[in-house]
Amino acid sequence: MSSSRTISSGRARIGWSDKVILSQRARQWAGSGTMAMTAKAAQERAKGRNVISLTVGEPDWDTSDSAKKAACDAIWAGMTKYQPSLGQLELRQAITERTNQELNLKTYAAENVAVSAGAKFALYGVLQAICDPGDVVVVPRPAWGSYGAMIEMAQAHPRYVVTSAQSRFLITPEALRASLQGGVKAILLNSPNNPTGTFFLREEWMSLASVLREFPNVLIICDDVYNRLVFDASGLAPHLLHIAPDLRARTILINAASKSLAMTGWRVGWAIGEPELIQALGRLQSQSVTCLPGFTQVAVMEAMREDHGVLKKRMRDEMLPSCERMRNGLAAMPGLGVLAPQGALFLWVDISKYLGRTHQGALIASSMDFAMRLLEDQAVAVIPGSEFGQDDHVRITYSVPEPVAQDAVSRIQKFLSGFQG
Ligand SMILES: Cc1ncc(COP(=O)(O)O)c(C=O)c1O
Repeated sequence: MSSSRTISSGRARIGWSDKVILSQRARQWAGSGTMAMTAKAAQERAKGRNVISLTVGEPDWDTSDSAKKAACDAIWAGMTKYQPSLGQLELRQAITERTNQELNLKTYAAENVAVSAGAKFALYGVLQAICDPGDVVVVPRPAWGSYGAMIEMAQAHPRYVVTSAQSRFLITPEALRASLQGGVKAILLNSPNNPTGTFFLREEWMSLASVLREFPNVLIICDDVYNRLVFDASGLAPHLLHIAPDLRARTILINAASKSLAMTGWRVGWAIGEPELIQALGRLQSQSVTCLPGFTQVAVMEAMREDHGVLKKRMRDEMLPSCERMRNGLAAMPGLGVLAPQGALFLWVDISKYLGRTHQGALIASSMDFAMRLLEDQAVAVIPGSEFGQDDHVRITYSVPEPVAQDAVSRIQKFLSGFQG
């Protein structure tokens, strides 16, 4: 689609279309179905409808007061100027302590950490830093849609591996071995996973580690943003480096304050890896975004000082019951299949029995049709599975207040009763 607009250049006004102005690459940048859903939800709200949004990937509690106060104090103390491109040293040290503790390692130091604008820019930077044009990066699916887009922005190719319900939508050792043939640059693993909320157990990591050892040139990127959002009593998802510390040098860790510290809007994330990679990220950041604000980094340091027990308790006492309530409500509806997540914020709902049927006269051929129709009919917004590479599912955020969840479940039930055929 090309749009026509005008820009002013000196006195002349030049007519142009995006064909003329945008690079070949920019014309191919993928937008997201999430954006389409958000725009449609905003349209419905503008009509005065009470839209329930089950689309967001963030905790439904606020950033802690002490973190907010630390940011305000830092601003008033004059922390309003440029900062180091790789992040404040104190924060980089705090991240290494946290990571060493999580992984039961002693090996990371500040030189292994690049602080970035969220996990997203950390990952974007890593892919820019490691990929040459045409490189292949393996991505098991379903997966967060930004992975593929970011790999393509790095002029590399995603090699998607489809997973199934039998393995809780996690890649199996056999599929891993097959996917790594033929000169793969890296594999991207997200455990706990968005959108399924499932994670690899210790013994599953063990089998994957054996396969990864067969491919010594493959880099391993672990996106750990949900690692503390688990229902398990330990409060931490098992990790590849718990099982296989020998793979550390070629493993790149991505994490953020966004999910586990309820700080999605503060835009603080990080990449952890070998110093050469971190220096490259420093150059990329210094020549692009320059740095992150200092006061957000101070706030994250303060949030990290808080007791992890609070989150563990919240996951067990609030999130798990919310998840179970919504899961049971949905699973009781005819034709919906709902996977039991082990953490994260979502339910991964199989809608295949509704595809190819009509809803009040409209053919529902895809997860996007299903999501759009649900929004039009009952004002409930969910994310189509096509966003994650599986068109027979939708992703539903369960982390909403209880009355909202109840209302959503009854609206979805009404919506399903409108199917024919
Ligand atoms: C799997 C995964 N990784 C990374 C991110 C991005 O996190 P951040 O907000 O820190 O950029 C998200 C956000 O939804 C995510 O789901």
